Amino acid sequence: MSLIEPSPERPLFKKFPELRSKIAMQHIASLPTPVEALPLSEHAWIKRDDLTHAKYGGNKIRKLEFILADALQNKAKRIITVGAIGTNHGVATAMTCQQFGLECVIYLFDQPLTATVTQNLRLMQAYGAKLIYKGSLFKTMLAYYSSPYRLKSGSYFLFAGGSNLYGTLGFVNAACELQDQIEQDECPLPTAIVCPVGSGATLAGLTYGCQLIGLETEIIGVRVAPKKLGPIPACTPGTVHKLMMETYRFLTKHCRQPIPRPAAVNLVDEFYGDGYGVATEQGVQAIARFKRAGIALEQTYTGKAAAAFLEQLDSNRGAVLFWDTFNSRDMAETASTITAEYLPVNLRSFWD
Ligand SMILES: Cc1ncc(COP(=O)(O)O)c(C=O)c1O
Repeated sequence: MSLIEPSPERPLFKKFPELRSKIAMQHIASLPTPVEALPLSEHAWIKRDDLTHAKYGGNKIRKLEFILADALQNKAKRIITVGAIGTNHGVATAMTCQQFGLECVIYLFDQPLTATVTQNLRLMQAYGAKLIYKGSLFKTMLAYYSSPYRLKSGSYFLFAGGSNLYGTLGFVNAACELQDQIEQDECPLPTAIVCPVGSGATLAGLTYGCQLIGLETEIIGVRVAPKKLGPIPACTPGTVHKLMMETYRFLTKHCRQPIPRPAAVNLVDEFYGDGYGVATEQGVQAIARFKRAGIALEQTYTGKAAAAFLEQLDSNRGAVLFWDTFNSRDMAETASTITAEYLPVNLRSFWD
């Protein structure tokens, strides 16, 4: 089996050299992302994953380096995924599929409408994705699981958020990257790292990655998605731990060095508010404080995580690192290439 050559500079491969011949990766992201002091307090730091890609940043790009490579290695012709109508994962997947000549099909369900949400709909369309809008979560999941693409060869199904083994490895790599930056004195060892949690691979990869490489910091995941999607557990310590266990089994199988069993997951609930995508008072205030510090966040993911981060800054005596997972590249021009008539009929109302 011929594997796509892993990029030699990804720190994951330096820490786990056997993986070079065991997993495929595609050089999609601009890494390492900067780590910077945040002018909110002397202890505030930020990991700029909003800049993972020259066109469209955010945390999904790190996952896609491994997911897309796996799809290509498995001779996929298309990726079929699912998400809310403003899914950042959908935008990142559509953009990278277009780059690698894969079709992209995205099943979409409702979420509260914001400017970011409608822009993301346009972007998925601009990047050539086929959008299938079903309205409710239940109908969308049904459509995804009974999709006619399941019978077509070359279909690669990717669940919401891109959280599978490969997505998690993307964030084990991110932990290795941060360790290199700490060793190069780009930032202090944080006592805590705070990130938003939706489908779980960001938290799983960072938590397990730090454990694997001995980076002694507390990873605090902030739940921003429902615990269940229909009958399926979605955002719980259990779903995050499952990703870590899958990674553990994979590394145990392929690496010579001893691999520890994953430790516990730290997932906090109290910043979630009334639902996925629904703004919270604390989140709105945190977004305003970050804006004054020059960082643009949004209400669904990073605003809620920023509220938790600010609380940590007040209570934690060491450095605290905010892991910024939301794209900050200006997408207005790309989005403006799409008008209502490009869209499936049942999505056009979102443009008026
Ligand atoms: C901006 C942003 N932050 C955080 C997350 C959550 O990451 P994960 O799905 O890996 O938990 C997402 C996922 O959709 C996202 O779009």
